[in-house]
Amino acid sequence: MMRTTLLLPIILVCCILLAAGLPQTDDLAITEAQLGKKLFFDPILSGDKKVSCASCHKPEYGFADNIPFSFGVDSTPTTRNTPTVKNVLARSRFFWDGRATTLEEQALKPIENPDEMNLPIHIALRRLNENTRYRRAFKKIYGKEADSTNLAHAIAAFERTMESNFTAWDRYALGDSTALSASAIRGRELFLNKANCFECHFGPDFTFDEMINIGIYDGVKYRDKGLGAITGNTEDDGKFKVPGLRNIVKTAPYMHNGMFATLREVIEYYNNPDSFISHPINVDPRLKKPLHLTEQEKRDLEAFLIALSD
Ligand code: HEC
Ligand code: HEC
Repeated sequence: MMRTTLLLPIILVCCILLAAGLPQTDDLAITEAQLGKKLFFDPILSGDKKVSCASCHKPEYGFADNIPFSFGVDSTPTTRNTPTVKNVLARSRFFWDGRATTLEEQALKPIENPDEMNLPIHIALRRLNENTRYRRAFKKIYGKEADSTNLAHAIAAFERTMESNFTAWDRYALGDSTALSASAIRGRELFLNKANCFECHFGPDFTFDEMINIGIYDGVKYRDKGLGAITGNTEDDGKFKVPGLRNIVKTAPYMHNGMFATLREVIEYYNNPDSFISHPINVDPRLKKPLHLTEQEKRDLEAFLIALSD
């Protein structure tokens, strides 16, 4: 009895001390990545205040979109498929045509893009600085108001937190031989050898950001020149960034134009590209020969691709 009467006031004093030591509001405790996350989900960065980064990079679809082309302000469709913004930490090129080389450089472009968020950066910054919570958060983290540099830094910091590194494949690679099914293990072997995927999809995220033409360019029906439109060199026509394959099962549809709805279709394409697009221009020589995969091998390859997701 004596003990509890003594303990109660002590606990009370401790609680008061603890509460006083905590930051008053979440604005003051916010980290750079948390600020970036708020911005990523906030339509304040779009002209009509209706579109956020997450309108197209949807968390439920691995931060990509589940339709070939997404919709920006005024329901304007994008001209390319929305890629994931997960697993971008180690990337050295962004956008399908590789036109940005850092996440910071990339981050402001969709805000200004008339088809996406359609908001001049100076207006975006004015809105943020007129908003008490954002103004305080930027002051706290950067010691000043929002400007184009720290806005880009905050968004990029959030994007860099989204790494998937505990997939079935990772656990297998770390020595857990039960993490992959027998089919996925055979699929891995195919990925490395017979199916030749590893030629381009290599490294921890299954890409080294090379620009390659896999044949989805014929100048007639498939007219997106990719890198060629940036450099003006015809030999770059049809070259796109090799995408990473982590979380691939969540980010359908596939390719820069979202032309394949399933992983199975992607595998059918690689198995015999000519049966999809008959006169591709500039196609990489490594894709010229059919793979002759059997039905079981296609299933195995798909099982391996599925194991790359968290
Ligand atoms: C209207 C849909 C839409 C909105 C809104 C949007 N994006 Fe995108 N995003 C895309 C499309 C489409 C691409 C590919 C464009 C291309 O390659 O030319 C893309 C590409 C990217 C990439 C490159 C990924 C890679 O691996 O190459 C990043 C990073 C990105 N967006 C981040 C953002 C951020 C941050 C915002 C918000 C400030 C945002 N996006 C808003 C559709 C959108
Ligand atoms: C010669 C290089 C190369 C080889 C070999 C290759 N890929 Fe690709 N892969 C690419 C490029 C480049 C793209 C993007 C092409 C585009 O959008 O036009 C791509 C796209 C993909 C995509 C779509 C990703 C997305 O986010 O939309 C998947 C899935 C894929 N490859 C899986 C494979 C598999 C499985 C194999 C083996 C059967 C393979 N790749 C072989 C270069 C290659």
